[in-house]
Amino acid sequence: MAQPNESLYLKNLWYFAMHGDHLKRGKLLAREILGERIVFGRDENNKAFALKDNCPHRGVPLSEGWYDGKVIQCCYHGWQFNNEGTCINIPAIAPDNNIDFTKIKVFRYPIHEANNTVWIYIPDKKLHYNVQPKVAPPELVLDPDQKFLHVESVVLPANIDHSVIGLIDPAHVTFVHQSWYWRSTKKMKVKEKHFEPTPLGFKMARHAPSNNSKGYSVLNGKTSTEITFEIPGNRTEHILIGTKHQVVSITTLTPINEHETELNHIFYSSLPATKWLWWPLKKLGQKFIGQDLGVFKKLSKGLESGPTLMLIGEPDAQSKWYQEIKRIWQKAQQENIPFENPVKPQTLHWVT
Ligand code: FES
Ligand SMILES: [Fe+2]
Repeated sequence: MAQPNESLYLKNLWYFAMHGDHLKRGKLLAREILGERIVFGRDENNKAFALKDNCPHRGVPLSEGWYDGKVIQCCYHGWQFNNEGTCINIPAIAPDNNIDFTKIKVFRYPIHEANNTVWIYIPDKKLHYNVQPKVAPPELVLDPDQKFLHVESVVLPANIDHSVIGLIDPAHVTFVHQSWYWRSTKKMKVKEKHFEPTPLGFKMARHAPSNNSKGYSVLNGKTSTEITFEIPGNRTEHILIGTKHQVVSITTLTPINEHETELNHIFYSSLPATKWLWWPLKKLGQKFIGQDLGVFKKLSKGLESGPTLMLIGEPDAQSKWYQEIKRIWQKAQQENIPFENPVKPQTLHWVT
């Protein structure tokens, strides 16, 4: 869906890399993100880092080498690097040389770790070894000591644009996610939702959850929800229950390459019952995501023949906003000008 002059990927933004538990101390983990090969690691002090996954010597993935929590050693000629990606030793070079190894550096990506989640900043240019992020990492709602639980990771067989549209599209919910305990097509109603711009996207203003979702009625007390979408692909649902409790449910999309996108779902709840209900809650979340994955598999077959697609009316308005936000973000990066959000406050209607 990218237009000429526009690329599929948005750069100079933070992407969800993984839940913090998936990065083990003293271990390396290879990932592909936005088509880039990246090696993540967690050092002996529990600090996460990310480097370009190519040895500067002959390009072998550093993730194939050895790591002891301090030094990464390439598996080919044994060059050694510290956690910052600076070369500290080349074993084959005799000691009485005058080569300054520390001038050899592996590109290091900015990393942000908060609430047990790991985020990576993907710059548009890697000219400097020490890239400075142009935007702050995403706002995760929680206090610093609160931790997200990990619900699920799946690989959608679709590019980031289709994946985002699948995430923010309200109309598929009735047909993809219908099940006896959630919704039924018999109870469809006209919904009216108010939207406002946010720094990198838009939000559905705080409202009482729809009463044809049984999933919500199990939460006692006065509840309200606010749903935010921001580029590159983060959907945050913030539910307030009475005056004391909150639930934060975040779905993130990280492009792996042009054909695949990783979806992650993380969850936080201050309700004490969550501890006991975690297993069924996790299963419910996984079932939901499995339903999306199911329709995405069908979609990817359909897209093989390159059909013409359309975005129609208010149910598809958010998808149009996404495309417009994306276009303006890319223009702002190319011209080095501030991003101006094109979304205006407005009300949308749809039937679900
Ligand atoms: S390729 Fe890594 S040390 Fe030669
Ligand atoms: Fe869905």
